[in-house]
Amino acid sequence: MDANVNDLIEAAIKARDNAHAVYSNHPVGAALLTSDGTMHTGCNVENAAYPLGNCAESGAIADMVKNGHRFIRIMVVIGPATTLCTPCGGCRQRIREFGNDNTQIIVCDGEGAVQLSTTLGELLPHSFGPENIDEVRT
Ligand code: THU
Repeated sequence: MDANVNDLIEAAIKARDNAHAVYSNHPVGAALLTSDGTMHTGCNVENAAYPLGNCAESGAIADMVKNGHRFIRIMVVIGPATTLCTPCGGCRQRIREFGNDNTQIIVCDGEGAVQLSTTLGELLPHSFGPENIDEVRT
């Protein structure tokens, strides 16, 4: 049986527990469900050279790709507190690479309660994705 949203939230919380957020003190966990029903997780991994840090969503996407999956049905993101950790602009585009307007984005508060359930189309309207370059790709 496919993972459900509660499984994803639980997995995102576990991933957040391992975040390397020593500079921002803003640990983030992400868990995604693919069209194949598999679940993949990530946490943010910061670096002393600040710009080299990676977001939690990036880690989950890397885990998905490494395991041979290519389509995100649901992405759950959980930050540390009540102020929501909605996916940053860069991560919206990263999700777009493997999703579409209907990809569900769920953002939880620090306790794991769903505070926002929306779609990638809402977060990144009129997006640029793989289809936009189909015409010239050989
Ligand atoms: N962060 C994420 O992991 N995902 C986001 O979508 C927004 C921000 C991380 C990056 C950095 O490690 C910390 O949160 C503070 O910006």
